[in-house]
Amino acid sequence: MKILGIETSCDETAAAIIENGEKILSNIVATSADMHAKTGGVIPEEAARQQVISVLPVIETAFKEAGLSEKDIDLVAVTVGPGLIGSLLVGIETARTLSLLWKKPVVAGNHLVAHVYANWLSESQPIFPALALVVSGGHTDLVLMKSHGNLEWIGGTRDDAAGEAFDKCARLLGLPYPGGPSISSEASKYQNKNGDLKMFPRPMLTDKSFDWSFSGLKTAVLRKVQGSKSNVSIPKLAAEVQEAIVDVLVEKTLRAVKKFKPQSLLLAGGVAANQRLREKFESEIKNQKLKIKFFAPPPRLCTDNAAYIASYAYFSKSTTPWTSIDARPELTIVGQI
Ligand code: KG4
Ligand code: ZN
Repeated sequence: MKILGIETSCDETAAAIIENGEKILSNIVATSADMHAKTGGVIPEEAARQQVISVLPVIETAFKEAGLSEKDIDLVAVTVGPGLIGSLLVGIETARTLSLLWKKPVVAGNHLVAHVYANWLSESQPIFPALALVVSGGHTDLVLMKSHGNLEWIGGTRDDAAGEAFDKCARLLGLPYPGGPSISSEASKYQNKNGDLKMFPRPMLTDKSFDWSFSGLKTAVLRKVQGSKSNVSIPKLAAEVQEAIVDVLVEKTLRAVKKFKPQSLLLAGGVAANQRLREKFESEIKNQKLKIKFFAPPPRLCTDNAAYIASYAYFSKSTTPWTSIDARPELTIVGQI
């Protein structure tokens, strides 16, 4: 089965063609991030305008790269939420139109659940039950997946998302948007003297829930930057921010691994591209001798793309008539479409 995926939830315009939920035949992503870098963050109207400009060329390129035409496609999958309403509507309207024209069914995709399916686009496949940590620019959720479509919410952020914390702290440090890659690249310039990265607080670690709080971090960074007669270098501050975020994500997630004893641990979302986060999970799983198979998609499949939407559609198999598909900007990871 070949599925065309379309993803336009924020500032990436993406189309991909995936075979049987696993094999990437093409995966095209156009981004307007450079434009948003000038303003330090995404301006929703501008992002939507860019979606309109990019969506058809991106789909055309996805077909060209796969060497296929619309006759070869069995399904069209599209992100319906969460995301920016204007951006979402561009992908949705495109999918509705293609469905009507080509007479192909449509699968409406949950952006957050779909991120997790980047883990099915590799050679070895996750085994259920799986615990998934979804860390993106707008969301931070921990969910237990007993099977495809059977998700239980375990915890999440009570305020800012992990990606948002990277983005806001980067801004305070004068680093460009998106903040995650900027912080990670600055941090790599800092020669870490083992264990000396303790400048910022690790909130909620004494709390028994599987929740996080990241809003205090930006306040702590602001205080440090404003009161900065201390001459702390940007690479050191970036390494401190990264370590504070990574520490709490790894600690709480591995507590959940011990409690729920899943077979697989799946990382997903843009922040999952973070090298330090991936390394720390790997080393802590080893140190704590946890019996779990750890999955982290290749970095280019962590950030927004359409390959995961097509994979999600293959495994979810629930089509929606094109007449009833609508944007769901506020959809949660366990929300019904
Ligand atoms: O999943 P995503 O591409 O878009 C949303 O659905 O939000 O995630 C974007 C977020 C941004 O906050 C960005 O700063 C963060 O992912 N991000 C990273 C890295 N690459 C992207 N955060 C930390 N390290 C990275 N390497
Ligand atoms: Zn995303």
